[in-house]
Amino acid sequence: MPEKKRIAVFISGRGSNFKSILDHVQKGDINGEIVVVISDNPQAKGLDYARENNIHFRVFEFNRGVNRDKYFEEIVNYLEGFGVDLILLAGFMRVLSSNIIRRYKNRIINIHPALLPSFPGTHAQRQALEYGVKVSGCTVHFVDEGVDTGPIIIQEAVEVLDTDTEETLAARILEKEHIAYPRAVKLFCDNKLKIDGRRVFIQD
Ligand code: GAR
Repeated sequence: MPEKKRIAVFISGRGSNFKSILDHVQKGDINGEIVVVISDNPQAKGLDYARENNIHFRVFEFNRGVNRDKYFEEIVNYLEGFGVDLILLAGFMRVLSSNIIRRYKNRIINIHPALLPSFPGTHAQRQALEYGVKVSGCTVHFVDEGVDTGPIIIQEAVEVLDTDTEETLAARILEKEHIAYPRAVKLFCDNKLKIDGRRVFIQD
């Protein structure tokens, strides 16, 4: 069994993906430990899960006019003390700067509520409805220097119904997110993911 991975989770809001990963960690399904939570939003609901579970957390507010490189440099410096092996973006609504992506190359994972490369960026569920696709879903992927462009680990599909609103579609996709994200994190923590160019292979 490889050593437990030390995980940092970045959130901006509700934190349901953080919670679902935390549940799997606590059940022992994931060979890792969430050592710190970072939020850009002091009001993020998800911070309550960190408080309730005695997990270190720190808010780095992103104020207007802040230099993005400097902002992420501060976060990188803060993380050094935690010996972080893996960063999970869980509803973190900021585009990372290249300094943090290079520092944690192939060790940052994101969840996106669409089947990439369709509908990157914000309001992915709304984009999918407006486009009129019949199938959407979620994507767990490594983070590279583009926006939602990194190598894909897992995707889960969801049928788009005629009756769907942005909210109902988002809710069904979220159920899949709570399955796909912990699964991908487990694979990473078991050293089972191998990146080859754009492709990610799951090794037995
Ligand atoms: C999730 O649907 C996640 O896929 C999405 O934000 C939501 C966060 O929910 N992320 C993005 O749109 C990133 N571009 P949560 O805070 O309850 O995990």
